[in-house]
Amino acid sequence: MRVHLKIKRFNPEKDTRPYWGEYDVEAEPTDRVLDALHKVKWYEDGTLTLRRSCAHGICGSDAMRINGVNRLACKVLIQDVGHKIQVEPILGLTVIKDLIVDMEPFFAHYRSVMPFLVNDEPLPADGRERLQSPSDRERFDDTTKCILCAACTTSCPSFWANGEYVGPAAIVQAHRFIFDSRDRAASERLTVLNQNTGVWRCRTVFNCTNACPRGIQVTKAIGEVKQVLASGEIR
Ligand code: SF4
Ligand code: F3S
Ligand code: FES
Repeated sequence: MRVHLKIKRFNPEKDTRPYWGEYDVEAEPTDRVLDALHKVKWYEDGTLTLRRSCAHGICGSDAMRINGVNRLACKVLIQDVGHKIQVEPILGLTVIKDLIVDMEPFFAHYRSVMPFLVNDEPLPADGRERLQSPSDRERFDDTTKCILCAACTTSCPSFWANGEYVGPAAIVQAHRFIFDSRDRAASERLTVLNQNTGVWRCRTVFNCTNACPRGIQVTKAIGEVKQVLASGEIR
C-alpha cells in the first residue's frame, strides 16, 4: 500500500520555524510506523532525524506523536493508523532536531525521586538476599514495567503548562520504590513529591495512562502516592 507521511521537521541550525515534510512510501499494512520512517530516511531524505534502538517496544527511545497521540513508532502498525500518518515530536521538551527532543529535563525529574533501592541495613545473617513475599512484590509489579519512554509525561497538560512538574513517569518510578517492602527511602521520595512541583499538580486527566505503551495504570499509581501523602501510611 501507498502511505503518505506528514512529518514535522525542524533543524534549529537553519530553520527559523518548524515545517511539514511530506513523503510517500510503499509499505505493508503490517509494517510499523517506524518501518515507514526508515523508508523515508533511507531512501527519500537522509536528513530526517529520529531516535530509535530496539525496534521492539523495550528501549523506550522512539516515543512520538502519531496522528496526535503519543505512541512508540515501533509498536504501531500502519493498518491501525491508516495510510495518512502525521508524525511530530513529543510535546513539552525542546526539539533538538526533527523528531528528537532534549530528554534531559525528563531525566532530571526521574533522578529527583531517587529511582534506586535504598537500604543500608545489614544483610540477613544467613547471607541470603532480602526476602519479600509474593504479595509484597505484587504491590509494585505494575510500576516495574516502565521503560522511561516519556510518552506519559509529554502527554500531560500539567507538564505542558509547567515543565517543573515532576511528571507521571517520575511518579511511576517513585511508586516502584515507595511500595517496595525492602526499601527505606520512601520518606525522602515523598518529600520531593509533596512539593508544589510534585503529585498535587496531577489533575487526574488520564492522558498519561492512555499514552503508556506498557499498559501501566499510571493515574492509579499517582493516586496511590497521593493517598500515602494524605494518610501518612504506606499500605
Ligand atoms: Fe513510558 Fe509508561 Fe513509563 Fe510513562 S509510565 S515513561 S508512558 S513506560
Ligand atoms: Fe497528567 Fe496523568 Fe495526572 S495526564 S494530570 S499526570 S492523570
Ligand atoms: Fe525501542 Fe521503540 S525502538 S521502544
